[in-house]
Amino acid sequence: MSLLPVPHTAIIVVAAGSGTRLEAGAPKAFVGIDEHTVLRHALDGVFAAAPMQVIVVAPAGYEGDAETELRAAAGERADLGRVVTGGATRQESVAAGLAALWGDVTTVLVHDAARALTPAAVIDAVAAAVTPESAALPTMPVVDTLKRVEDGLVVGAVDRSELAAAQTPQGFPRLLLEAAYARAAGEGEEYTDDAALFAAAGHRVRLVPGAELSFKITTPADLERARLLRESTAKAPAPPRPAPRLSAFPSLPRVGIGTDVHAFGGEGDLRLAGLSWPGEPPLSGHSDGDAVAHAIVDALLGAAGIGDIGEHFGTAHPEYAGAHADVFLSRTRELLAEAGFAIGNVSVQFQANRPRFSARRAEAEAALSAALGGAAVSVTATTTDALGFPGRGEGVSVMAVALVVPVSAATR
Ligand code: CTP
Ligand code: MG
Repeated sequence: MSLLPVPHTAIIVVAAGSGTRLEAGAPKAFVGIDEHTVLRHALDGVFAAAPMQVIVVAPAGYEGDAETELRAAAGERADLGRVVTGGATRQESVAAGLAALWGDVTTVLVHDAARALTPAAVIDAVAAAVTPESAALPTMPVVDTLKRVEDGLVVGAVDRSELAAAQTPQGFPRLLLEAAYARAAGEGEEYTDDAALFAAAGHRVRLVPGAELSFKITTPADLERARLLRESTAKAPAPPRPAPRLSAFPSLPRVGIGTDVHAFGGEGDLRLAGLSWPGEPPLSGHSDGDAVAHAIVDALLGAAGIGDIGEHFGTAHPEYAGAHADVFLSRTRELLAEAGFAIGNVSVQFQANRPRFSARRAEAEAALSAALGGAAVSVTATTTDALGFPGRGEGVSVMAVALVVPVSAATR
């Protein structure tokens, strides 16, 4: 018998789907990525997070296999896990999981086994962000340009800064989620995910940073991507996980500062603050010279205490040569999420004679904010009264200040 405290958080790992689109000849959760199945990888991530009740929802007839995977992943914490049988739809499978919650549980996470490589830090961050009234949803910025289409023609544009891609685990206050599920069952409504069902009951859903690795294995190409990722991590020595410099007050928000200077020079259009400025002289640099983005990256890394832009994006990382702000910023957000931080806000000021900024301020702020998963970004601009190198028109100078918030103080 375990004398450990009973956790107040539970995670329902839904694994009862058939995996029709994967066409792998077995339910998706039991398909191998490497020597381990999709379900085993998902559960390894779950058990690397803070201890919580773990309910695996298995397809009928696969309960024993799920039990084997659960025991292997749980190690000494088999007391936390249990398997239940799923239903015909994802929503019915989640409902079956809800029926198995322990009495002491107040926060419930719902996770797709199909998001097998989800980092434990995301699971902890979601759990920490749930409140008695509101849910927590991990999202990624939408990077593709989106179009509204009809009959093979483009009929409109979609502003991607208003959009975010939803992932799992999604976290909820238990009582409100149970009530929302009861309501949906009463209506006979099917929702695309738990956050939609919860929002339909009139409750708030807050965003937390998701992760690239949390992608959902749906098609054979997704499975191949998971295999390649596992192979490359098995071969390469594990990259040192950024460890935040310790604080005596780990639950306080933290500030960081970053500056960057670039000279005008080179070919092409200016890239600044995540935008392209046709006709303006470009800035030189290892990447696209976007000094606004680079100052923000240093402010954020500095606030979290996880190194600086040179360490994570410098010339030792040729994959970032020529990369634009969205790549730098979304990767920075991921590094912060891995270290247990969410971004509060970022304030940037740039000093230069050109470009004239005011007309495109809102556009720049929206682009930078989208790349940071919706965090508030403000940009101000000033000239320097003809003094110094910005005043002589030789280049731009940028300063950024960032505030970050620890979301998983419990895990450090
Ligand atoms: N799921 C479930 N019960 C169902 C349907 C889906 O537990 N009746 C789970 C899946 O196992 C998966 C997650 O919900 O972990 C997301 O569903 P999806 O990716 O659509 O998986 P499948 O339904 O298995 O795949 P497909 O739609 O291609 O058949
Ligand atoms: Mg499905």
